[in-house]
Amino acid sequence: MNRPRAEFLAEALEFTVNGRAVRVRTPRIARLADVLRDELGLTGTKIGCNAGDCGACTVLLDGRQVCSCLTALGQVEGRSVITVEGLARQEKLSALQTAFQKHGAAQCGICTPGMLIAAADLLARNSAPRESEVKDALGGVLCRCTGYQKVVEAVLDVANGPRLPLPPAAEQAVGARAGKVDGIGKLTGSESYGADAIPPGALWMRVIRSPHHRCRFRFGDLREFTARTDGVARILTARDVPSNGFGIYPGIKDQPVLARGEARFRGEAVAAVIGTREAVEALDLERFPVKWEPLPPIMGLDAAMAPRAHWVQAEKPDNLLLDGGVRKGDPASAWAECAAIAEGTFETSFVEHAYIEPEAGWAKRAGDRIEIHVTTQTPYMDRDEVALVLKLKPEQVRIVPSACGGGFGGKLDVSVQPLIALGAWLTGKPVACVYTRPESMASTTKRHPARIHAKFGCDASGRLRACEVDALFDTGAYASWGPTVATRVPIHATGPYSVPHVRTRGRAYFTHCHPSGAFRGFGVPQGAIAHEAMMDELADALRIDRLEFRRRNALKVGDRTATGQLLEHSAGLAECLDALAPRWARAKAECEAFNRENRSHKRGAGIGCMWYGIGNTALSNPSTIRIGLSTEGALTLYNGAVDIGQGSNTILTQIAADAVGLPMSQMRIVMGDTDRTADAGKTSASRQAFVSGKAAELAGLDLRRKLFAAAGAPENEWRDRRYKLALEGRRLVFRKDSIAHRIEIPGEIVGEGFFDPPTAAADENGQGIPYATYAFAAQVAVVEVDLELGTTRVLRLYAAHDVGRAINPIQVEGQIQGGAVQGLGFALMEEYVPGRTENLHDYLIPTIGDIPAMECILVEDGEPLGPYGAKGVGEPGLIPTAPAILGAIHHATGVRMRQIPVLPHRLRAALASALPTASKTESEAGALR
Ligand code: FES
Ligand code: FES
Repeated sequence: MNRPRAEFLAEALEFTVNGRAVRVRTPRIARLADVLRDELGLTGTKIGCNAGDCGACTVLLDGRQVCSCLTALGQVEGRSVITVEGLARQEKLSALQTAFQKHGAAQCGICTPGMLIAAADLLARNSAPRESEVKDALGGVLCRCTGYQKVVEAVLDVANGPRLPLPPAAEQAVGARAGKVDGIGKLTGSESYGADAIPPGALWMRVIRSPHHRCRFRFGDLREFTARTDGVARILTARDVPSNGFGIYPGIKDQPVLARGEARFRGEAVAAVIGTREAVEALDLERFPVKWEPLPPIMGLDAAMAPRAHWVQAEKPDNLLLDGGVRKGDPASAWAECAAIAEGTFETSFVEHAYIEPEAGWAKRAGDRIEIHVTTQTPYMDRDEVALVLKLKPEQVRIVPSACGGGFGGKLDVSVQPLIALGAWLTGKPVACVYTRPESMASTTKRHPARIHAKFGCDASGRLRACEVDALFDTGAYASWGPTVATRVPIHATGPYSVPHVRTRGRAYFTHCHPSGAFRGFGVPQGAIAHEAMMDELADALRIDRLEFRRRNALKVGDRTATGQLLEHSAGLAECLDALAPRWARAKAECEAFNRENRSHKRGAGIGCMWYGIGNTALSNPSTIRIGLSTEGALTLYNGAVDIGQGSNTILTQIAADAVGLPMSQMRIVMGDTDRTADAGKTSASRQAFVSGKAAELAGLDLRRKLFAAAGAPENEWRDRRYKLALEGRRLVFRKDSIAHRIEIPGEIVGEGFFDPPTAAADENGQGIPYATYAFAAQVAVVEVDLELGTTRVLRLYAAHDVGRAINPIQVEGQIQGGAVQGLGFALMEEYVPGRTENLHDYLIPTIGDIPAMECILVEDGEPLGPYGAKGVGEPGLIPTAPAILGAIHHATGVRMRQIPVLPHRLRAALASALPTASKTESEAGALR
């Protein structure tokens, strides 16, 4: 809803906020959320949708939770409002906030105010709620990061447990279940996200977007429109953009900042209106002078690949973006050796990231420099992209990341950045832009829809002999991360198994959809659905237990991968499967017992495995981290890696603190500011713990060496870990046994660490070393299917992950749980349809009511290259979940679903077509090994 115009200003209206009386002169129809944020400065209340779908704006109104985005100011007159800022008392966290910090219940933190308020409402009415009551009470608040389990644990801890203070910091930080170093701001509402610190007086921007999948367009008289529209300062079009192309790859800058003449997807930006906030929010888009001429779009893979199909980009023949693959051995001749062969085609949909914080930021010009405050996953790529678009030098651009309210890959591409930079550059005034939820969903990247044909064969002993995989991806109108997906998938398409004969291929095609980009896994989750179904079918064909079949084929140290890479260390899939084996056996037995007693509902257990190469594929992937100790004794981690909620600020602090030998509680952090940090690369591909973590370790060791040198210690004395270091104001203490040596800090001392994991480019057959290390995992899902309704409920999930070393087990568990719940959504409910699901009530993501009981099992097969043995876990949490769920559905029903998400109508149809063989299905389900 647009903000009410000034002529409707009402009488002063009074109410209390956090116990203080307030008086505002804002129209009664204003949204309470806007009044809290804009009039009263209480930006702890977040806006994720402005439509009552996400719950991020939840506040207490006379003690009961309400969505403040749906509450008119007039409704609160004379009443009491409590926001997240009102939960702490005299700067002391409430028991609830303390429990959230202790349990790691906040990741990115954008939903946390809403969660805390909903929980506070519950606990005020019910001091000892059951788990189901917690889920009911928090059911209106969406979280895309945590998977909800730690939120539930935190609330139950307050309700039922002793109200313990936060545990004291462990002496050794690595391995400790430390609370987030940036957690307090997320719990109190003081953390600043992309839309929270826009300077007063900034101009605002509204983007004009194509309403058609494909169209030509022509502007009318923009000058006249500007002149006759109060408050509009300027309109930007393609003509204003110095270099009108951006994109992830240096050689593929194919996406215009503002389209010129033709729009290639619904939601593509064609113009940007800059003016006062009131003016741009009140814009009547129907009156904007543009004429659209719709053209027939290319929608979907079949249309893109059709003979004589229109080319979405004129210079990209046959709509093909990339064709990549891997060849090893000779599958064609190996099929003859196989005792069993499985084959199938699987289809997946567009999936929306659905981070709760829409894209937002503001920019200002300072002389010949531009400064951009923005929610992002990748400040250095943003800097270079903006410099390119504005034809500036990279040093002329400063990116200052705000807190990031979720990204999952979707904030790796620029969104508002070039637009607000251009606006501020040309007007000389600060310019802000905050995407609406529909705008965010329509215009930003999605997970690639895939069609994957897989064929796997094994010998009579159940050893895999050959595989052929052909993966097609819909990459949308522009390249974005399409090349990465089409390259990464063929490498991972064997699954985490040893296969001697391999032929895999990945192709990405352009269509008239929003670009497909990076989304937690870069295509590997789609590929895993295919290879895991094949493992199930081969195991069943040979009547080998599905877990045992995977165990027999699991990649291990000493094996070579499909790209010929020798796994020299850290390949813990077999350990993951061993850890799951007793749970798997129990789950199968319980399902079969249930199924003997029930006809309308059937239960099943499924297993999914994965491997994931950490970091960029066969590319340089460096990170530089610095740690400074000032003369005043301030210890600062200068960290260019953005924490998008996954906890890198915390774990890099843990690693750095232990490497130096000082307590992590004394280390402050500067995150992502391109003027103050070095380039640590993007937060993606599960790389920050491994790559930036190693750089942080090396920086810590470098600083320790320099500190000992400053104290005049002998050359290698710094390696002696019996020395305990401490900071006492401006003095540094070196303590060994009972002897302490103190020095004045002589001046700023900086340690620096650089790490670029060793990889090797692929040859023409895809042979090479694409990644320095791989994470491995296996998950078991237990589901219950309602045969009549076609609904599937995931009851339990066991997740065993080889993470190398858990630097912080709370954060690692949080990544696994959050990833797994995204995997659940991918399997069962999430399907983005361009033009139809551009909001959070038509596009469904898992709520707290959808989550299963989850158990995380951390396997630590240390990676010598990584910091203290760590690898990475951001992506791996999601990848095995959908295959495990699909296997469980097959166990329950005998139906192998080949199109996901498994929406109820699809499962019902599949069940109906399987009806003639229902009795066979039941016996098959019962006989699963
Ligand atoms: S912002 Fe109010 S429910 Fe989403
Ligand atoms: S922590 Fe809940 S949305 Fe990020």
